[in-house]
Amino acid sequence: MDYSIETQPVDKLQSDCTVVGIYEKQHLTASAQTLDHLTDGLISKLLARGDITGKIGETLLLTLHPATTIERILLVGLGEKKSLTNKDFFKALTAAFANIKKPHIKTLVCALAEVEVDSYDLTWKTRQIVTVCNDVSYQYTETKSDKTTESQLTAVQISVSEDQHELARTGLNQGIAIAEGMALTKHVADLPANLCTPSYLAKQALILGEQFDRLAVSVLEEADMAELGMGALLSVSRGSRQPAKLITLNYQAGDKNTKPIVLIGKGLTFDAGGISLKPAAGMDEMKYDMCGGASVLGTLLAAAKMALPLNIIGIIPASENLPDGDANRPGDIVTSMAGKTIEILNTDAEGRLLLCDALTYAERFQPDVVIDMATLTGACLVALGRIPSGLLGNDDDLCNDLLAAGNTANDSLWRLPLWEEYQELLKSNFADLANVGGRDAGTITAACFLARFAENFRWAHLDIAGTAWRSGVVKGATGRPVPLLTHYLIQRADASI
Ligand code: BES
Ligand code: MN
Ligand code: ZN
Repeated sequence: MDYSIETQPVDKLQSDCTVVGIYEKQHLTASAQTLDHLTDGLISKLLARGDITGKIGETLLLTLHPATTIERILLVGLGEKKSLTNKDFFKALTAAFANIKKPHIKTLVCALAEVEVDSYDLTWKTRQIVTVCNDVSYQYTETKSDKTTESQLTAVQISVSEDQHELARTGLNQGIAIAEGMALTKHVADLPANLCTPSYLAKQALILGEQFDRLAVSVLEEADMAELGMGALLSVSRGSRQPAKLITLNYQAGDKNTKPIVLIGKGLTFDAGGISLKPAAGMDEMKYDMCGGASVLGTLLAAAKMALPLNIIGIIPASENLPDGDANRPGDIVTSMAGKTIEILNTDAEGRLLLCDALTYAERFQPDVVIDMATLTGACLVALGRIPSGLLGNDDDLCNDLLAAGNTANDSLWRLPLWEEYQELLKSNFADLANVGGRDAGTITAACFLARFAENFRWAHLDIAGTAWRSGVVKGATGRPVPLLTHYLIQRADASI
């Protein structure tokens, strides 16, 4: 898709459809007024007639008389005539782009950047327009015979005023980077587990590394991991015929003495639960258990694309969790890379077994902060549903920065307590700790387990079990938490210069 910034007024821009906002009580945005004049008052007439009331997210697609220079207009409701909230702007954009998925609309002019949004500037608005447009237009076709997509959009022109085009251009670049990062994340996540194996993930990372000079990618094999003593991670992959991979992406664009930001993503390409087998219903969705890893790929793509002046390390421990004659048994005890012994009371709590060794491995990079992303617990869905991801961590500043980034990027987080008292639940009679803590507070005890391996650095954990994909008829990956992570990185880059 080709996104561009245009400084001409909307009536001078050619496309298959021009998107303009209207408010309730028949108030028009500046661009809607311009088009109203051009069409002899058509828009105000439709508003007066009540064809559209202007409620947030309401839309009306108009096809104009062939003699008019504008082909079509999509009116988008913006609610009351006042500054919009971040969420309402997002809602209006989503509704607008969902309504132009028509074969005859290939090019678009979007005049929604002129809309006022509470405490956000044109850079942010432009960025949101691009990311939402790309997100809504995305369609998975890889394993379908018919590759035609509902959306046929190829070009989007974002109209802004001349004096602000620099701000818009910055937002455009950020938006394109985030959009591409999300698309990569969604694509690898949507692929089935027979195609997207740990080796496939490793290959995608290597391909990504070839695209950017500053990105070096390396892959550890099982023998390398055995040498490092990654007994927890390797115990999971023993149950699968697919060899585990430990993928490291090293992006070096900051001062070479600056400590890196480390991003770790759970890359379970399929989670059947192991010997503690999951029920059959909905098990296909466990192909999404690699969404944390996929979001590391997407975020590094976005950061490299923007050439952010930062040092970032991405780590993806990748494996499958299947039942097998050589799989972990409940009660088995394994030794992690950190030397701690773990009693595996439930083989389905495998994510933490991968992540604990990845966290220990992260120490060698002397991280400034470590952030891990994982579809870790069904309990997170029970607690928070599918709106925010769960956030837990050992550093308030880092957690607050991530919370703020989540709000800005419309990719929200909700923090849960990581109190020492919960550690009781992980006690084992036979090992240093158990891999599960019982029914209570499942998301918290999972994070408590990880915390035992994250004592030497500032660390935050995102439980994305409820947010990384959607179920039902709209089943598919969301690309989250790429927007929030990328925004966090942009902020870090701004702070470093
Ligand atoms: N990948 C799952 C978590 C999951 C479940 C994510 C459902 C999204 C939807 C994870 O490996 C898992 O199985 N966790 C167990 C932990 C339990 C055994 C303590 C769970 O949540 O049931
Ligand atoms: Mn599991
Ligand atoms: Zn899992």
